Amino acid sequence: MPESPIRKLVPYAEIAKKKGTKVYHLNIGQPDIKTPEVAMNSIKNLTFEVLEYSHSAGFESYRKKLAGYYQTHGLPINVEDIIITTGGSEALLFAMGSTMDTDDEIIIPEPFYANYNGFSTASGVKVVPVISTIEDGFALPPIADFEKLITPKTKAILICNPGNPTGYLYSKDEIYQLAELVKKHDLFLIADEVYREFIYDDAKHYSVMNLPGLEEHAIMIDSVSKRYSMCGARIGCIVSKNKEVMAAAMKFAQARLSPPTFAQIASEAALDTPQSYFDEVITEYKERRDTLIEELNKIDGVKVGHPNGAFYCIAKLPVKNADHFAKWLLESFDYKGETVMVAPAAGFYSTPGVGLDEVRIAYVVKKEDLIKAVHILKEALAVYAN
Ligand SMILES: Cc1ncc(COP(=O)(O)O)c(C=O)c1O
Repeated sequence: MPESPIRKLVPYAEIAKKKGTKVYHLNIGQPDIKTPEVAMNSIKNLTFEVLEYSHSAGFESYRKKLAGYYQTHGLPINVEDIIITTGGSEALLFAMGSTMDTDDEIIIPEPFYANYNGFSTASGVKVVPVISTIEDGFALPPIADFEKLITPKTKAILICNPGNPTGYLYSKDEIYQLAELVKKHDLFLIADEVYREFIYDDAKHYSVMNLPGLEEHAIMIDSVSKRYSMCGARIGCIVSKNKEVMAAAMKFAQARLSPPTFAQIASEAALDTPQSYFDEVITEYKERRDTLIEELNKIDGVKVGHPNGAFYCIAKLPVKNADHFAKWLLESFDYKGETVMVAPAAGFYSTPGVGLDEVRIAYVVKKEDLIKAVHILKEALAVYAN
């Protein structure tokens, strides 16, 4: 199993904290945003006496309400198209397991969410990367690049939209091009849409679930983790109209018995979160993004993209080895008793040697802290470069 670039430096952060250094965590997508009150209140004062398993597909009441939520967002999803999972993570495992055999291949634009490497390793599936670059703003690579990678073993293309770690939001044209490609080669298009709500600058999100003619090919991965800042709930879902895929996914679901009961109750209640909550959260993230990009651009030699969604960006740093730099930040550096933890980006690629000078930064902390953290990064780069 590959280690997670997001978490592998945690022991160094723990040592730094024991020494009394304050660490700004820009490495992990753990928002500081409050979970909606309706969700938290729903699990207080529960009176049942036995904490039972639920249905393997999740509570029917939750799936029904979730289908209604998707429908209000323009996605024609019904209760039978949904299986509730233990986070989007388990949904990704189910998607791979249900569509691929050992040694089959999945094409993924990189850089990609690092745990796709772990999930594919666990599923015995080979990741075939297609490279998107910071110079092109991480746009979808040309379709010809995908096409030349397709072999008889290729079963699926996996995209993350909007993207972690790039913040890239696929355009309507790009989604339609991918749809044509998967139809032409009879592949699955798995779309990880866990950041769907987090779109900025009035841009529009195009889901794989409302593309005409793609019903048999499209699989959507979703989660409550980021939408409601409920990462600890461990609730997500796999969604598809393809009955065979859902029947296979159901076997995986039965094997692990059921998703967590308390967290399903909270997730069902979270669907009543008022729109005002999202309006505030999106405004907050947009301001954080603008602050982060502005501050990073002030540092000589740093190159950063312009994320349109999610809450991450990839930054190219004037260092040879961002892995070493990130470790050094925790082990050997502090600025007035404070330092920063970032995720080295090489682990977000599967091509060896790519992204060595890049880090992923999550803008999940307050603007004031982002400004301080980027300042620390600037001071650190000045010392490190020397
Ligand atoms: C792109 C993406 N997909 C899936 C996940 C998994 O989320 P969870 O298992 O918490 O639902 C994450 C978590 O950070 C993510 O960033």
